[in-house]
Amino acid sequence: MNNLHLEGVIHHRDALQLTAELSDNSVDLIVADGPYGVTPHEWDKISDIQEFNLELIKRFTRVLVPGGALYLFGKPNCIDFIDYRPYLNLKSKIVWYQPSRLAQGRLSYTNNYDVICYFTKEKPRVFNLDDIRVAQLVELEHRKRCENVPSVTNGKFGKTVFNPKGKNPGDVWGDIKQLTYKSKELVSREMLNTIQKPKKLIERLVLASSSEGDLVFDPFCGSGTVPVVCLELNRRFIGCEIKNEYVEMARKRLECGDSSHGFSEAQETEDQLSLV
Ligand SMILES: C[S@@+](CC[C@H](N)C(=O)[O-])C[C@H]1O[C@@H](n2cnc3c(N)ncnc32)[C@H](O)[C@@H]1O
Repeated sequence: MNNLHLEGVIHHRDALQLTAELSDNSVDLIVADGPYGVTPHEWDKISDIQEFNLELIKRFTRVLVPGGALYLFGKPNCIDFIDYRPYLNLKSKIVWYQPSRLAQGRLSYTNNYDVICYFTKEKPRVFNLDDIRVAQLVELEHRKRCENVPSVTNGKFGKTVFNPKGKNPGDVWGDIKQLTYKSKELVSREMLNTIQKPKKLIERLVLASSSEGDLVFDPFCGSGTVPVVCLELNRRFIGCEIKNEYVEMARKRLECGDSSHGFSEAQETEDQLSLV
């Protein structure tokens, strides 16, 4: 039994129910941008987000292929005090830094990042570093000097050389901005509230942790960013979303391509004015 009958579709279903129907060891990558447990949306009202995430981790482990990857989105505490270790290896806790987030806190430091927990089932099957390298920000002269300092040439980092294709993006990502009302790729204003993710962010995850032809599962599709990116990058996908209006929006986005929506120039100007 495989998942062929479920592929290529955004299902109007509950994520846990659909996950239960997926075959064991059948999905290469899961991108789970689900509840954060912090907004007033009905779907985000989770009494214990850590326990909820542990349940997701358990169920996703069964369907991942050995070496498959899970990216789990959340707030900085989203996996605190839960023991995921019997199920998956936590390889990185990526900080998605958003310096432009409104900083209105008075009593503590305003949170201006989300985390994306990168897990693998056993040893990662793929990590396509060359597909996600980012530009080196240091001057060529400085790079050359660094490559030649004695501690680099003689020390344990003797093999360190600057790669002309760029560097590993690291685990603090400040180079990808959250969408705003002015973003062309925003599907609707409502999707900004449910945190439609930028394609660039999802592309980095899909490129790094899957290969062409692999199967990607998005249990919480929202506006359909993951399926859209999968189509563009030649990955197979299974999508799932609980709210009917979002399912329709995402299906339309898939059918019509990404250039069919976005706000008109007039709307964008209006937004710009209201923001100054
Ligand atoms: C943060 S949004 C996902 C945004 C999406 N990545 C995008 O770029 O548009 C989370 C989505 O999960 C959906 N959702 C929440 N609980 C769900 C569940 N149990 N099953 C399926 N979908 C669910 C919500 O309706 C919401 O659209």
